[in-house]
Amino acid sequence: MTPEAARARSHHEVRRPPHSHPLDSGRGAPDPLPAGDASVATGPERDFRRVVVTGGAGFLGSHLCERLLARGSEVVCLDNFLTGTPANVAHLMPDPAFRLTRCDVTEFVHVPGEVDLVLHFASPASPLDYLEYPIDTLKVGSLGTLHALGLAAEKRARFVLASTSEVYGDPLVHPQPEEYWGNVNPIGPRGVYDEAKRFSEALVMAYRQARELDTAIVRIFNTYGPRMRPNDGRAIPAFVCAALRGEPLRVHGDGSQTRSICHVDDTVSGVLALAGSSHMGPMNIGNPNEMSVLDLARRILELTESQAEIAFVERPVDDPTTRRPDITRARTVLGWEPRVDWRDGLRATIEWFAAQPELHDAA
Ligand SMILES: NC(=O)c1ccc[n+]([C@@H]2O[C@H](COP(=O)([O-])OP(=O)(O)OC[C@H]3O[C@@H](n4cnc5c(N)ncnc54)[C@H](O)[C@@H]3O)[C@@H](O)[C@H]2O)c1
Repeated sequence: MTPEAARARSHHEVRRPPHSHPLDSGRGAPDPLPAGDASVATGPERDFRRVVVTGGAGFLGSHLCERLLARGSEVVCLDNFLTGTPANVAHLMPDPAFRLTRCDVTEFVHVPGEVDLVLHFASPASPLDYLEYPIDTLKVGSLGTLHALGLAAEKRARFVLASTSEVYGDPLVHPQPEEYWGNVNPIGPRGVYDEAKRFSEALVMAYRQARELDTAIVRIFNTYGPRMRPNDGRAIPAFVCAALRGEPLRVHGDGSQTRSICHVDDTVSGVLALAGSSHMGPMNIGNPNEMSVLDLARRILELTESQAEIAFVERPVDDPTTRRPDITRARTVLGWEPRVDWRDGLRATIEWFAAQPELHDAA
């Protein structure tokens, strides 16, 4: 924990009423929220005492749980471990403010007690995962989102949907601003994920309008960092693990397609800044530092000092050609922008993967 996080933690610990466990606490009414202003950043001021994170045992979810606990919130993490694992949050288990519950959000979502914020992050997210679980992906984006919205409506909590740059599909506008409606193939292999997220966004807007729910949509662009699975099929874990094992880095096509990679610390800050504001989004959160996939592979080879080769393999169907967020809205509304330099972020991620015992088992 950073000194800053530790200070924030101890400050909040003093304010937290005494109780044995977050789920059986007899807390009074939450502090009134400050008046919302959609034009300014209000992240740290908005006090979310109890937060539900669906998909909290996944890559992004686990970092969100960690940061929320460090800020003094109680966190209820709901996950069915389809693509995540309790190991991602094992270090949080001793904290009495943290509760992990096994729960498939497509079946039902029930959380006793007050809830101030629901972060809906449950969904397979890597292309390999949603190709392996196409129906689960569509179910969690439809039924799962419906149930998570139902929870927020019952508790009158703020609701934040983890949407994705994939709603822009293979974009015809570059970089992608939030106003762009996208170019998605609904019947292609990626359609299960892209359309599930587009449906989720529509569902959120319906709850906002018909139920007057306090909602926000965050469109997250490619994020990387510790706790990605070595074999989840995303470019950074695949390249890093291949480089560390001395195996060829498999670059799709000629590698000229671009990606913009954002370190998880920056993404989490952006998500929580949006949650803490009154803005409804959609809000792009990502790093506009665009690079070709081939350059990314070369940079990882340099940073790992690996002698591994680059192998060019067939490009997947509907693989986006370009990807770069226009983050003007996040800069203007939230005062947020990414801070982690790609060299530092990749170095730290490489160190983390190098320390994983399963690195040498991963296919
Ligand atoms: N990582 C990124 O670069 C990125 C980019 C854009 C959007 N997102 C979104 O952020 C969210 C998290 O992505 P991630 O990269 O951490 O993926 P992840 O696979 O690591 O995490 C997703 C979590 O959701 C859980 N889950 C899936 N179905 C569930 C269900 N029915 N009930 C309960 N839990 C369920 C999984 O077990 C997993 O722990 C996803 O919604 C994803 O679409 C991620």
